[in-house]
Amino acid sequence: MRIPNLFIVRPVALDGAFVDLWVVELSRSHRRSLLGRDDAAIIGGMSERTLAIIKPDAVERRLAGPIIHRIESSGFQIRAMRKVRLTKREAEGFYAVHRERPFFGSLTDFMSSGPAILLVLEAPGAIKKWRSLMGATDPAKAEAGTLRKEFAESIERNATHGSDAPETAAYEIGYFFAGIELV
Ligand code: CMP
Repeated sequence: MRIPNLFIVRPVALDGAFVDLWVVELSRSHRRSLLGRDDAAIIGGMSERTLAIIKPDAVERRLAGPIIHRIESSGFQIRAMRKVRLTKREAEGFYAVHRERPFFGSLTDFMSSGPAILLVLEAPGAIKKWRSLMGATDPAKAEAGTLRKEFAESIERNATHGSDAPETAAYEIGYFFAGIELV
């Protein structure tokens, strides 16, 4: 049976995060050493999605272009992107997990203070990869070369947001985007 070198079988939901499964034709010797048999291998979980936000402070300072450039040059696929002005209520829903924190009111005021850009990013290990590119939440603690070190003004006006785990990514992507909008 002839199997193409590499093709996507179908997107699947795995542990709440969307991944693509790939069928790979390995060389005969490679197959033997990896699998002990000649079948094509199905190896999964190579691609992951995360929600990214370019926050109102960065949009206001016209930093969306440089940030999107860094996203693309870092190897992410942008699966969806939309500019929105969140209502206070929408910001409260999005950050509901922080409801008990002392900064909740101020954070949701800020997030609804002007337009933001919502993106769904895809790459192998996208959640960790995007968090590394952003840097620490507090720009004072962010490493050189990270987006927050370069662009953030404070721990609250910190330029970007990213999901912190697969379950959070699934919730956050679903909060803003319907599946049909992810292309
Ligand atoms: P974000 O990655 O969007 O997730 C939650 C946000 O809460 C975080 O970025 C910051 O903008 C904000 N935040 C976290 N800690 C503090 C803090 N101590 N004071 C003010 N805002 C904070």
